[in-house]
Amino acid sequence: MMSAIRTIRHDPLAFLTDTWRRYGDVVQFPIPRPPTYLVNDPESVRHVLVGNARNYGKSTIQYQALALVTGEGLLSADTRRWRRQRPMVQPAFHHETLDAVVDTVVHTADAVTGEWSSLRPSEVIDADAYMMHAALEVVGRSLFGSDLSGDAARITAATLAGLEVVIKRARVPISPPRWLPTPANRTLMRARADLDDAVAGILAERTRTGQGAGDMLDLLIAARDDRGVGLTPQEIRDEIVTFIVAGHETVASALAWAWLFLAQHPDMQDRIAEEAGAARPWTRASIAKLPFTRAVFDETMRLYPPAWVITRRARDADHLPCDVSLPAGALIIVSPYLLHRHPRMWSDPEVFRPERFLAPYERDAFIPFGAGPRLCIGRDFAYVEGVLMLAMLVEFFRATPTSDRLPWADPQVTIRPHGGAPVHISRR
Ligand code: HEM
Repeated sequence: MMSAIRTIRHDPLAFLTDTWRRYGDVVQFPIPRPPTYLVNDPESVRHVLVGNARNYGKSTIQYQALALVTGEGLLSADTRRWRRQRPMVQPAFHHETLDAVVDTVVHTADAVTGEWSSLRPSEVIDADAYMMHAALEVVGRSLFGSDLSGDAARITAATLAGLEVVIKRARVPISPPRWLPTPANRTLMRARADLDDAVAGILAERTRTGQGAGDMLDLLIAARDDRGVGLTPQEIRDEIVTFIVAGHETVASALAWAWLFLAQHPDMQDRIAEEAGAARPWTRASIAKLPFTRAVFDETMRLYPPAWVITRRARDADHLPCDVSLPAGALIIVSPYLLHRHPRMWSDPEVFRPERFLAPYERDAFIPFGAGPRLCIGRDFAYVEGVLMLAMLVEFFRATPTSDRLPWADPQVTIRPHGGAPVHISRR
């Protein structure tokens, strides 16, 4: 048991993989409260996330930890609150938002192109750091418009500071209570106070000028439920923070791994560059002209799904299609990382082969964005950003590997390449 706990803490992906290989598609962990199940039977995963989704809420440790930063935003909200919020938040992701995302990605990719153009030939860069920075820029501009100084900058900084505490806390089995003024708790409290203050500032500014920038924040301010009631400042704060948390590192992680894979496959880079050349001018519709680039992004998320665990809590007892009974209150752990490697659904699951996404594939066994009613609201946003960013950069730069092995996959909030994503970059 001790060695199991050590592996869970140091290499959770290896632990999950090992547990599944040893015990099969549904495994009950030897933890009495709550009764905890790892579910990797594709039909049963679908049952929990889609078919009987009403029975499975989000009051789980994973989402409660995240809620220390995101409050009751859409990602961590349990079913009742979520039901009111989702239709109100949905308009923030409409077509004009995606058009603005395209413009922001063009702007951001241009900035990266500028920096990479001044590198020495074949210089080693950390693609992860570049993609993290770029993704923060994209989500920040989409939320707050072009001015990312002042309160907008404080909001993103405080969100990331708070998130770091939450990640560290998740790594330690017993955390000191939140009221104890430990350095971590003080950082978290400071981050939350900063967030509240900066959001109040930005809302006051928009109310004072009476006009916004047409960005996502404006759409959140304008949202009304079916009785005409808007979101409170606290709810707006929670959604903003949620978008930064859910929309920053996820896209960046997928892009960083994509660079590592592409570095090993020069032929795939050529194919993307060719597609990119024919896909201009850049609009939302360009995605349809970049099928291979998209397949690379998908195949990357198959092997390294940024959201590597999805948890649910069963309200009532239930019976899974794989013939396992769950008691009321059971904790369900679904891991896209495992499901995406299920040999019944994928041939040569460990092999990076984007072409598999150009042919029909098992959609139920591919859930990088979740499934069912709680499907990622930012899915289209992520495709626009991820696919375009890759196309725009690969068109002009060639990546080559610094090692013949991929970095160790370190699962934090998302799966991070340990030590970053070093690649050689040269102009094509
Ligand atoms: C590659 C990028 C992304 C990945 C892999 C990803 C993954 C996911 C997954 C797996 C879920 C469902 C979690 C669950 O069922 O428990 C989810 C939900 C969510 N995501 Fe994303 N996401 C990405 C990008 C984004 C972006 C760009 C945004 C916003 C700007 C965003 C905002 C959200 C929100 C608000 C939810 C909660 C939706 C709800 O419950 O109604 N995500 N995401």
